[in-house]
Amino acid sequence: MTENPNLATDLVAVDIKDFRNATRDINFDVFLKLSEGNYAHVFSRTTGLDYKRLAQYVVKGVTHLYVKNADFEQYKNFISISAHSIFTNPNTPQEKKISTLLNMTEQNMSEVFVQIEIDEDTASKTQRVIQNYVELVAADPQMLAVILKLVSHGEYLYYHAIAVSIFSMFIAKASGQFNQRTLELLGLGGFLHDIGYTQLPPELMSYAGELTQEQKHVVRTHAHLGLNMLQNTKNIPDEVRYIVYQHHEEPSGAGYPNGLNSAVIYYPAKIVALADGFSALISKRPYRPPFSVPQAVKILQDAGRKYDRELVKVVATVFLPRAK
Ligand SMILES: [Fe+2]
Repeated sequence: MTENPNLATDLVAVDIKDFRNATRDINFDVFLKLSEGNYAHVFSRTTGLDYKRLAQYVVKGVTHLYVKNADFEQYKNFISISAHSIFTNPNTPQEKKISTLLNMTEQNMSEVFVQIEIDEDTASKTQRVIQNYVELVAADPQMLAVILKLVSHGEYLYYHAIAVSIFSMFIAKASGQFNQRTLELLGLGGFLHDIGYTQLPPELMSYAGELTQEQKHVVRTHAHLGLNMLQNTKNIPDEVRYIVYQHHEEPSGAGYPNGLNSAVIYYPAKIVALADGFSALISKRPYRPPFSVPQAVKILQDAGRKYDRELVKVVATVFLPRAK
């Protein structure tokens, strides 16, 4: 930690959000303001960014970080090389795209893990499983193109894919009904569940007002679109396709695309549906702030037969540690 009375005048405030979806390498130093005139040197050009700490700062309400005046040009250059620009530049080598995707995945996972209380061991195992999926999926050029669309489709969609993958595995594990292979299928199904959105206009996901009937109809096509996208991909098991296609079915029969009743909905799809609902509730959306974890669990408990009742009980034990 650096305390330097002259430092304050040499520093420029920059928005902490600028570091989101950015690559890890920084060729400048970054400081955190502790109090008036008192700054800590938190990331350096030799160590790079630490995504976990960055996510913790955001959760604690930090809105700005600081860079040296002398480094401001390097900083501007850094933010111009966002993950998005790397993915969309036709000259970016494939390896660079994959390493950037893995970086972004790690960054998004860090953001998920600061929101929920999960022990380090479970967190790191889950992170490894997800990094493996991303590597597996990215090894197939057709699937890599799909995943890059997911990343480029607005920042919420990729974060949500990662969050649902993590939550699906936690719920499935806590339900005690799955072996390791099915747990991993659930993680992959959770990761790909909303892939159909990549075929729809991005603004539909972040629309701030009430959707019109016509817009709702379009949004509902994403389950079928997702299924179609995975139809000819050899590395994706059928179970994952069922999850993608059925993740908006509801035990009450009021879901879509087919209004299936509880007995015929594929059980892992019910888990992903719940993980999807939970992730959406604890995320900040354009039309509302995020709900706290206890508030989100309460909403799921009060949702009637929108979700599987037994699985909702499992969610309370997973995400409300003191209720165990
Ligand atoms: Fe969905």
